[in-house]
Amino acid sequence: MRIVSGIQPTGNLHLGNYLGAIRNWVAMQEDAAATGGQCLYFLADLHAISMPHVPADLAANTREMVAALVACGIDPDRSVLFNQAQVPQHSEMQWLLNGTARMGWLNRMTQWKDKAGKNREGQSVALFTYPVLQAADVLIYQATHVPVGEDQKQHLELARDIAQKFNNDFCPEDAPLFTLPDPFIPPEAARIMSLRDGSSKMSKSDPSDMSRINMTDDADTIMQKIKKAKTDPEPLPGDKAGLEGRPEAANLVGIYAVMAGVSVDNVLAQFGGEGFGKFKPALGELLVEKLAPINTRFLELREDREALDAILRKGAEKARALAIPTLEKTYDALGLVRG
Ligand code: TRP
Repeated sequence: MRIVSGIQPTGNLHLGNYLGAIRNWVAMQEDAAATGGQCLYFLADLHAISMPHVPADLAANTREMVAALVACGIDPDRSVLFNQAQVPQHSEMQWLLNGTARMGWLNRMTQWKDKAGKNREGQSVALFTYPVLQAADVLIYQATHVPVGEDQKQHLELARDIAQKFNNDFCPEDAPLFTLPDPFIPPEAARIMSLRDGSSKMSKSDPSDMSRINMTDDADTIMQKIKKAKTDPEPLPGDKAGLEGRPEAANLVGIYAVMAGVSVDNVLAQFGGEGFGKFKPALGELLVEKLAPINTRFLELREDREALDAILRKGAEKARALAIPTLEKTYDALGLVRG
């Protein structure tokens, strides 16, 4: 098993980021250790330049995200942790795959359509070819499994199409070059919603800081935010069906369930019939207990730029060594002379 996944470097990390991709990456790292697999995790900084951006923010966010990943449990000695920009083989591979990807395929990508909106002509070329770089990211390592959110499934299917077409067009039938990667969408990829509005996602861009638990929040702040979280006046139901039409209650119970590592029905078996006056302090304490060590490590590491850069440098070195053999075979298959 070779697991490869990327995450765009964003700042102001919160509970939604942790319970989304990051926690799942840590779990896969532990599984890989048990089964002899290997994990490669990277910051998709090259993808980040497909949209207007502030260079100083990109650099700061890249380092901040590394601090968060390590604080949450990604171990740079066991997983290969790096940023794309230090592994130029990704960009080279993208160019080689640009010869295989079709305009029509990219035109059908829903992320492209959503992000470009009505102004396709005004978008960067990078936004359009973004999925080809993503294909290069995974194909260059012969990834077998790619953990992603539901929204990235289509990009993964595109990576498979590119791999398949390349194998068909340029490889002998009995010696395909690229492994077709399987998307892996974690079943309990809970959608964490705003603490102020159970129908919108927890987000770093929500103007209200009370809507989210930040990775930088201390214990008092976490307790405060949970106590002030929006709810309804009803007591908690006894089972999952009873959460229907109660988005705020469902969100808080969902957060409890993932943090405690139990099912929603399990949580409701314990708290069904109780009011929020009892449930909220329990949730707050659970969050504090689980997040405090992460918070401490994160704040410490974030200030240690040298350590962060050393982690990325070492990770990139390992990644380059893993990337080069497939890249060389790709040049070769295409008839590009590398003397
Ligand atoms: N596009 C992904 C996202 O926004 C990030 C990403 C880039 C990625 N390259 C990847 C994810 C390769 C998985 C594999 O979430």
